[in-house]
Amino acid sequence: LLGFGNVNRTLVRLLVGREAEIRARYGIEWRITGIASRKLGWIADCNGLPTSVLCAGAPARASSLCRPPAREASTSISNVREWLQAAQADVLFEATSLNVEDGQPAVGYIRAALEHGAHAITANKGAVVYAYDELSKLAAAQGKRFLFESTVMDGVPIFSLFRDSLPTVHLRGFRGILNSTTNLILSGMEEGLTFDQSLAKAQALGVAETDASYDIDGWDAAVKVSALVNALMGVRFRPSAVQREGIRNLSAQTVRAARCAGKCYKLVCRAARTGETVEASVRPELVLLTDPMAQVNGTSSIVYFETDIFPELVITENNPGLEVTAYGMLADFVRAVSEGRRRDREEIS
Ligand SMILES: NC(=O)c1ccc[n+]([C@@H]2O[C@H](COP(=O)([O-])OP(=O)(O)OC[C@H]3O[C@@H](n4cnc5c(N)ncnc54)[C@H](OP(=O)(O)O)[C@@H]3O)[C@@H](O)[C@H]2O)c1
Repeated sequence: LLGFGNVNRTLVRLLVGREAEIRARYGIEWRITGIASRKLGWIADCNGLPTSVLCAGAPARASSLCRPPAREASTSISNVREWLQAAQADVLFEATSLNVEDGQPAVGYIRAALEHGAHAITANKGAVVYAYDELSKLAAAQGKRFLFESTVMDGVPIFSLFRDSLPTVHLRGFRGILNSTTNLILSGMEEGLTFDQSLAKAQALGVAETDASYDIDGWDAAVKVSALVNALMGVRFRPSAVQREGIRNLSAQTVRAARCAGKCYKLVCRAARTGETVEASVRPELVLLTDPMAQVNGTSSIVYFETDIFPELVITENNPGLEVTAYGMLADFVRAVSEGRRRDREEIS
């Protein structure tokens, strides 16, 4: 586990809760052999760290992860490669904070994991946006998977839908509401809260970015748009290319006045292909209350895909919590390990 904030902590609890089912249905046994973050440092024990401590939240000290009687979790590790080695990692769950400028250090962490011979699963959009081609090719060369289902719409299976269930379908464009924090703020202001009160609510739910200005200024949404364009439209596309405007300048008064006039503000993401290029935007738009997008409130999200086969394919997600994001990682885990085993069996036979 690299990064031990909202997402990876929830993942541990979900893995523990579904441990018996994962073993019985998929024949997968797991143990957590490494945990790392800026404050914790690099902790590894290839025999397994105590999940009871991890389920309780972030350990205050590495020593609380030591198992009796004498064995100590290794804390003398100084970088990700040594850590992966000490943990004997088969899978990396990368959930460090988003860096909208270059996706680092997540890109480097995932590269190291794949080179080490582990599957790499991330909730971090930055890695998809800045290194999708490189990491996908590296994973294929290593016979491992680079999976990132939790990066857009939490754990809703968007990437696997296109990859596994819609062969030869071409995505022409999409539109939707993809950022929970701004949607929560807008919904909160409509209900009478101030901007700051609504933001505090999003932070308490654990859905805001570590740096909430990434949400408010539309960066998170722009990075999600870029992740979808890179992975589903086959176009190398950076967040800086998105025409971006956040919700910072929308006051509670403006939002409530729109509501009285039969409309509401939504931070709408759009992308459309023209030939070999894609144009994309993220900006507050006034939506009629009769538009299905107006019903998408709080942490909910929606995306309309326009494809060459399905004129409009709509996915709505209502009121997800952190468990949904963690579930996306769990699903990627089961997918990666099951498929890796199938491939190993085929090679042997
Ligand atoms: N929360 C959500 O609803 C959600 C949904 C989908 C995707 N995501 C994505 O998932 C990722 C994690 O989100 P979160 O909500 O769990 O964030 P968070 O609660 O802020 O936790 C971030 C974790 O990353 C660690 N970290 C940050 N920079 C690091 C670095 N350079 N090296 C090592 N560790 C580092 C932090 O360590 P310290 O605490 O020690 O600094 C912390 O443990 C983000 O990329 C986010 O965009 C989140």
